[in-house]
Amino acid sequence: MTDAPKKVRVRHFAAAKAEGIRITGLTSYDYLTAGIFDAAGVDFLLVGDSAANVVFGYDTTVPVTTDELIPLCKGVVRAAKRALVVADLPFGSYEANPDDALHTAVRFMKEAGVHAVKLEGGERSASSIERIVGAGVPVMGHIGFTPQSEHGLGGHVVQGKGSGREQLMKDALAVEKAGAFAVVIEMVPEEVAKEVSEALRIPTIGIGAGAHTDGQILVWTDLAGLSTSRVPKFVKQYASLEKDLHSAVSTWIGEINSGAFPGPEHSFRED
Ligand code: KIV
Repeated sequence: MTDAPKKVRVRHFAAAKAEGIRITGLTSYDYLTAGIFDAAGVDFLLVGDSAANVVFGYDTTVPVTTDELIPLCKGVVRAAKRALVVADLPFGSYEANPDDALHTAVRFMKEAGVHAVKLEGGERSASSIERIVGAGVPVMGHIGFTPQSEHGLGGHVVQGKGSGREQLMKDALAVEKAGAFAVVIEMVPEEVAKEVSEALRIPTIGIGAGAHTDGQILVWTDLAGLSTSRVPKFVKQYASLEKDLHSAVSTWIGEINSGAFPGPEHSFRED
């Protein structure tokens, strides 16, 4: 959305799609990075359940809880001056029925002050999306590869191929019909994501879905090269923070051992 508007609202997502302006989103899990990303002009900040891996060190997103994510959301909300803040509903907090889904969404809105929530699933989540939206809470959908279903999907597998293409379209249309203001499409072939993006009125936000979605999102540590694990094919690294941090810390340790730090310029004197 570049510089405009001053404060991003869900209506700006629709306007951006209508005007052909790309939407940008990044994950964030704390006050410091949220402030930097917001100042850089990102349109929305997702407190993703990828916090399970990035913040808490779990192997998958499955174990992370609402109680773990809410404090992270509070920091991000305090930092965001312009960006819309979206909270991910964690696995187990919304699937049973629309009442559970609404209850969790309301917790994120009231306790953390987020502006919208995201939940995974197409047709299967439509009734929950409808219920949450009906209560006045904006919802972002998430279809294609849905990490919370990683075990059910048989690992990190590209979705929407072959016969999966028809289901992906059904999921996209169901999410739109249920009232979502945007939908994340993860790990699907570029031409399939293009077809879905052209069929929907709401904007599509791609991650591993090629160049033709209405916006893009990445996990910020992937973009910044802070990840110590394998980086997915769809990630482009714009910095090497893991290397830089490792080097800064090992240099600091070396300078303490050699006596080079702290120097006189880092020390206080009586006079
Ligand atoms: O939790 C997450 O990081 C996500 C992605 C879409 C970035 O859901």
